[in-house]
Amino acid sequence: MTPEKSYELLDKYIENPNLKKHCYCVETSMKYYAKKLGEDEVRWGMAGLLHDLDWEKFPDTHPKTVIPILEEAGFDKEFIDTILSHSYPERTNIPRETTLAKYLFACDEITGFVTAYSLMKPGRFNDVESKGVIKKMKDKAFARAVNRDDIIKGAEEIGLDLSIHIQNIIEALKTDPRL
Ligand SMILES: [Fe+2]
Ligand SMILES: [Fe+2]
Repeated sequence: MTPEKSYELLDKYIENPNLKKHCYCVETSMKYYAKKLGEDEVRWGMAGLLHDLDWEKFPDTHPKTVIPILEEAGFDKEFIDTILSHSYPERTNIPRETTLAKYLFACDEITGFVTAYSLMKPGRFNDVESKGVIKKMKDKAFARAVNRDDIIKGAEEIGLDLSIHIQNIIEALKTDPRL
């Protein structure tokens, strides 16, 4: 698999521009961490990009519906299991055991929250700091769809202080002109 093919898959299954942007956010965050950790940037980026591939067309079975799509595209079992482990454990029953899986989970909800928060700022991500994000997380009415517990759990699973993790995500998202 190549990033080019991954973008083709994304375009085939996702039309909603906001969902696409969410996928770019997670892709960019995963590439950022892969680079930091000396991991495979292409693989980590593709996991981020494709993690919600079936969300728009098959929300009731997400993320299970990715299995045949990603198998046909030639992805290996570890990659597919990574995506299966990022949400709805009651549907997939796949534990997050690898570093890749833990980081994917850790980057998912927080990128949504940081993006929503950045939309309130004139300078977007340049005007966002982790302190403000953590404060805003306590505002239950804001970005209600984002699961705060998963954000906290995600940082715990990768063993990072929440504010450091959030600052890393901000730094990553700053670099992406698509967002
Ligand atoms: Fe998801
Ligand atoms: Fe997601």
